[in-house]
Amino acid sequence: MDAVLRIERSVQAYPWTRGNFSDALSSGYLCLVEEAACEIRGFAVLMPGVEEAEVLNIAVAHAHQRKGLGRVMLSDMLAMASKMNWLRVFLEVRASNEGAIALYHAAGFTQVGVRRAYYRRADGREDALVMGCYLTGEKNG
Ligand SMILES: CC(C)(COP(=O)(O)OP(=O)(O)OC[C@H]1O[C@@H](n2cnc3c(N)ncnc32)[C@H](O)[C@@H]1OP(=O)(O)O)[C@@H](O)C(=O)NCCC(=O)NCCS
Repeated sequence: MDAVLRIERSVQAYPWTRGNFSDALSSGYLCLVEEAACEIRGFAVLMPGVEEAEVLNIAVAHAHQRKGLGRVMLSDMLAMASKMNWLRVFLEVRASNEGAIALYHAAGFTQVGVRRAYYRRADGREDALVMGCYLTGEKNG
């Protein structure tokens, strides 16, 4: 938990709290860490729904970004979701988060909506893009 919080606080302007992570764990959300040489380098949290799931959080420590870890964790979560027979995975992402949006597009997500002024930011609010990825081979969107 401490390692995950350190990463979260270093990469997010409005980080999840320890309580948010422990609620995710106690609610049975799928929580995954990427670890090598006894170092946690990234994590991801997937919230199950009835036939769908939502990626609530995913992050990689600064020092390990752009090495494919985000892609691997996202792909692992999509594989877990497929195994659970969920039909689609959703997520929300800041409209300004070009790196994450590029990662999601590369993994097969497409934009399915916008939540206006959804996120706080230093100078006001910013939109969330809602993105989805079908797991059944249907067309994304
Ligand atoms: C988004 C995040 C998880 C990506 O993790 P990562 O391990 O750095 O990403 P990967 O190395 O697996 O990148 C896979 C692909 O995604 C795209 N991508 C990832 N980061 C990018 C960036 N900063 N700029 C542009 N494209 C990017 C690229 O297409 C990349 O492939 P390439 O390196 O072959 O060009 C990471 O940048 C992060 O922790 N950001 C802060 C937290 C955050 O924004 N989380 C998402 C909340 S919705």
